[in-house]
Amino acid sequence: MANKLNGTVALVTGASSGIGEATAQALAEQGAAVAVVARRKDRLEQLAAQITAKGGRVLVIEADVTDKSQAQAAVEKTVKELGQLDILINNAGVMLLGPIIDAPVEEWERMVELNQLGLLYTAHAALPHLLKAAESSERKVADLVNISSVAGRRATAGSGIYNMTKFGVNAFSEALRQEITGRHIRVSIVEPGAVKTELSNHIRAEIREQAMQRFADIEKLESEDIADAIQYIVTRSRRVAINELLIRPTEQVG
Ligand SMILES: NC(=O)c1ccc[n+]([C@@H]2O[C@H](COP(=O)([O-])OP(=O)(O)OC[C@H]3O[C@@H](n4cnc5c(N)ncnc54)[C@H](OP(=O)(O)O)[C@@H]3O)[C@@H](O)[C@H]2O)c1
Repeated sequence: MANKLNGTVALVTGASSGIGEATAQALAEQGAAVAVVARRKDRLEQLAAQITAKGGRVLVIEADVTDKSQAQAAVEKTVKELGQLDILINNAGVMLLGPIIDAPVEEWERMVELNQLGLLYTAHAALPHLLKAAESSERKVADLVNISSVAGRRATAGSGIYNMTKFGVNAFSEALRQEITGRHIRVSIVEPGAVKTELSNHIRAEIREQAMQRFADIEKLESEDIADAIQYIVTRSRRVAINELLIRPTEQVG
């Protein structure tokens, strides 16, 4: 195990698959104790077994972060059991692509509830603990990383509400950064292009193929590529804040 994050505690939402799972592993490999949060407990337990087998420390928390009290309880449980909170990776998200006209409004609600409200609830609960870590931990700095998307910088037909949620994540992150960077909480946005995960599985079957057409012939990123970027962000010297990282597969044009 490397040791750049020895003595720190990280919380990763959406850690039961994809980018969140790979990020929890990467942070644990750097020595962080990691709270892994999602709804699928069996998947979190498999991940926890892998981290523990490599000598890492991990806390499984089954929670739906769209429920304000569960998001808050996940943060409080992390601090109670692992002692502090230095790093929050706000990663849980859903991408229900499709045209705006005649869209099932329930899909819009799911995206706003998770990509925006879930992220806000978790950030709100975590901020007092991150401030405390920035003041009194050995590193004297804390990290809040919000996972946005290329879709948070560039809107496209067929992606409107997902675009809206991720543009919102970027706006929130920049405003929060200005409020708290002087207190040594680094707020970062990571904007992946196409990554090979379960994300597109939730798109309605009848439009999935068409919605994903623009990525059909490119070599997609692996979750580990994004996890690598996240661990880079949170292992910088206290004076270095990586505010934004846009990461596309080399073959992705738009
Ligand atoms: N894959 C890409 O191409 C791509 C590109 C740009 C940005 N992103 C962003 O990357 C993030 C991670 O996505 P991914 O690609 O890794 O997809 P993924 O494999 O589908 O992961 C999504 C994660 O979110 C969790 N989640 C869903 N609903 C939740 C809820 N209500 N409460 C708590 N956790 C919940 C899921 O776990 P449970 O179902 O077990 O709760 C899962 O762990 C998302 O924010 C996504 O928008 C992905």
